[in-house]
Amino acid sequence: MKPNSQNLSLKILITGGAGFIGSALIRHTINNTNYSVINVDKLTYAGNLQSLISIRDNPRYFFEQVDICDALKLKGIFDKHKPDIVMHLAAESHVDRSINESGAFINTNIVGTYTLLEQTRNYWTNLSTDKKDAFRFHHISTDEVYGDLPHPNNFKGILPSFTEKTPYAPSSPYSASKASSDHLVRAWNRTYKLPTLITNCSNNYGPYHFPEKLVPLTILNALERKPLPVYGKGNQIRDWLYVEDHVRALLLVATKGKVGETYNIGGYNEKQNIEVVKNICLILDELVPYKDFSSNFSNYDNLITFVNDRPGHDMRYAIDASKIKKDLGWEPKETFETGIRKTVKWYLDNQMWCKNILEGENQLEH
Ligand SMILES: NC(=O)c1ccc[n+]([C@@H]2O[C@H](COP(=O)([O-])OP(=O)(O)OC[C@H]3O[C@@H](n4cnc5c(N)ncnc54)[C@H](O)[C@@H]3O)[C@@H](O)[C@H]2O)c1
Repeated sequence: MKPNSQNLSLKILITGGAGFIGSALIRHTINNTNYSVINVDKLTYAGNLQSLISIRDNPRYFFEQVDICDALKLKGIFDKHKPDIVMHLAAESHVDRSINESGAFINTNIVGTYTLLEQTRNYWTNLSTDKKDAFRFHHISTDEVYGDLPHPNNFKGILPSFTEKTPYAPSSPYSASKASSDHLVRAWNRTYKLPTLITNCSNNYGPYHFPEKLVPLTILNALERKPLPVYGKGNQIRDWLYVEDHVRALLLVATKGKVGETYNIGGYNEKQNIEVVKNICLILDELVPYKDFSSNFSNYDNLITFVNDRPGHDMRYAIDASKIKKDLGWEPKETFETGIRKTVKWYLDNQMWCKNILEGENQLEH
């Protein structure tokens, strides 16, 4: 049995499936394949079952509310569902929160990944040879593990990008905890031969993104005429990838990637944070013009407010995604311009989702 056979209805256990990328991955998988999905999610503040309403009644979708640090419950899930692939997205993911309170990041991102690896190994060891060979553990990670790249403001020459061989140099508690989890996954592959894959992706944006992150925060604050906070001078560069492009890459790696390999995923869309915010303002100016006759403000970018920079803030990330293109034929479909327009429109059309998630009404009965 090979996991890349299109005829098989694979069972994929996805951790963190109620989050931003996990929910996009589940919607995409249910809508575009015949695979089954077991969503294992603790439902922290960032997990929201409302993001899965469109597929939750599909007979190929199952939900288990479980903390990945709970070994016994994880064992029960493996025994019950017998997955062919594990795709591990569950994580604490917000850098600012990791700076203020790192404990949850150490627990979920490091101890949780360790617990999941061990339960996966126990389950995998007892599979038949065929199933054992076909099994995959795909760990979803970030480009932030590679640290800071030179910025065009203070670097002359050809600017480097992260490749799969770039040494790790994480700067924040978040990226250090993700780097630790990547190392654990590689060790479980090398020591126990667990068939693992790792992907390191750049900044995602798109629908269903929790409104603490730059893109949704900017859109929602702008609609409420609140300040649009921008760190420092706003010249930090990130490589932006539309979430649908990311989840297509993830499914490809999980089913066709080579065991033991790492693949970088990026959008070839390097933008300064201030450019991202101004771009959103321009789209809002066009779609929902801002006219406030009681003040001089007439454009959303009047709301931009520069705030003290984040401690340890990396200045530039950029991904060289040539390996995944060469080996698996993946490349992004969206440019930043098309993706950000779709995203702004989605937030305009889905303000109830935003309202509910912000009010904490994020745990629907399943
Ligand atoms: N968002 C990005 O731009 C980005 C970029 C590259 C990589 N990543 C990685 O992709 C993954 C998903 O990111 P995201 O933006 O969707 O995150 P998110 O914060 O939106 O979602 C995380 C999900 O994990 C769940 N979770 C948290 N702790 C858990 C635990 N202990 N047990 C079970 N579930 C738990 C949450 O309830 C939530 O549903 C993360 O591993 C992140 O590091 C994210």
